[in-house]
Amino acid sequence: MRFDIITLLPGLLAGPFEHSILKRAADKGLLEVELHNLRDYTTFKHKQVDDYQYGGGAGMVLMIEPVVRCLDFLKAQREYEEIIYMSPDGELLNQSLANQLSLKNNIILLCGHYKGIDQRIREHLITREISIGDYVLSGGELAAAVLVDAIGRLIPGVLNDESSALFDSFQDNLLAPPVYTRPETFNNWRVPEVLLSGDQKRIDAWRNELSLERTRLLRPALLNK
Ligand code: ADE
Repeated sequence: MRFDIITLLPGLLAGPFEHSILKRAADKGLLEVELHNLRDYTTFKHKQVDDYQYGGGAGMVLMIEPVVRCLDFLKAQREYEEIIYMSPDGELLNQSLANQLSLKNNIILLCGHYKGIDQRIREHLITREISIGDYVLSGGELAAAVLVDAIGRLIPGVLNDESSALFDSFQDNLLAPPVYTRPETFNNWRVPEVLLSGDQKRIDAWRNELSLERTRLLRPALLNK
């Protein structure tokens, strides 16, 4: 799977994909992330990419021309199933959307800045808009990193134990059960006896029960989905 991320701040995205699971996915050839600096696609003087908004008002707006040039450059090389604009106005990211997007091959992510981007980009060039939460970030880059992480780990073969993504919180609209490791006792805090019993049936039943209980307690809205 390949992500092409269009940004004015590629430096902000230099780190997130160079560690841990996403780095392993890249090393195995399962995930490719390419960064594209929008300033490399402008024909305006001084590498200008933004301008004042028509009708007046504070804040600069990203111009359509460099975005089109960058999209045309990418689309000439391969087909993209989605061109996603990262925006607080967008559809809220959840596990089901991450699952859906993990089935795609090529995705472009456009990160906005300033006051916003020319509305015609959103109307004519973008296939969907995604938000990572109801709060405003200073740009789309960190949101894009979150999206790539959430999707990248779902690509078959990326996680060592293939089944482990299936047991994540949210995969069945349930939170994950608690987990423990050595030592069995610390400060008199004991690992639940059932996990030491060796009885896999009882352990599975306990985990299901705790998943349900934690969801009911912490995120009851998930149970109504
Ligand atoms: N850009 C700014 N805020 C954002 C958010 N919450 N989600 C996605 N992109 C954004």
